[in-house]
Amino acid sequence: MRKSIIFTLCWLASTAVAQQYTKEDELVLPPDYREWIFLSSGIGMTYSGSASQNPAFENVFVNPEAYRQFLKTGTWPDHTVMLLEIRLSESRVSINKDGRVQTTVRAIEAHVKDSARGGWAFYGFQNGADKGKIFPKTADCYSCHQQNGATDTTFVQFYPTLIETSKNKGTYKETGH
Ligand code: HEC
Repeated sequence: MRKSIIFTLCWLASTAVAQQYTKEDELVLPPDYREWIFLSSGIGMTYSGSASQNPAFENVFVNPEAYRQFLKTGTWPDHTVMLLEIRLSESRVSINKDGRVQTTVRAIEAHVKDSARGGWAFYGFQNGADKGKIFPKTADCYSCHQQNGATDTTFVQFYPTLIETSKNKGTYKETGH
């Protein structure tokens, strides 16, 4: 009986938090992230000006609990997990003659807010791995997101369902060209 109570408590504790780490401090890829809240699909986004012939889609997801908190406060709570899923694209698939559709996953990256680990951190999942390695604080992920992310180092300016909330709550930073 006591065992089952402990088990239930552990289970509750583990489901309440969207992020899990391995013993080596890698981030476990949340298996159900495709059922999370969808924020945006950027296509062929580039920050250097060179366009690609075969642009990739960048699909952004966030855990539902963090999304609901954001709608109340205009910022991200502790334990927010955001995932960027980069998918290749193709044009002439099936009956399609123009435009682009999404195909296979090329990479997945994560942006995780965890005050117990010093705040926001970035992780990368390589070659279909289900565990992601942390990017060091010197990586350009941190500086670009810090300088150009509209809200709390995230790119809310590209997430249409969140822009208004962030502006209304006074957490939105205008960023330019
Ligand atoms: C030059 C600027 C720039 C750099 C460098 C950069 N990003 Fe981003 N990142 C963006 C933009 C712009 C978006 C919004 C993407 C969209 O709308 O599809 C974004 C979105 C994200 C997101 C979705 C959550 C969020 O914070 O908005 C993750 C996760 C992410 N990037 C991870 C990374 C990682 C990991 C690195 C470093 C390896 C990195 N980024 C480097 C510009 C940058």
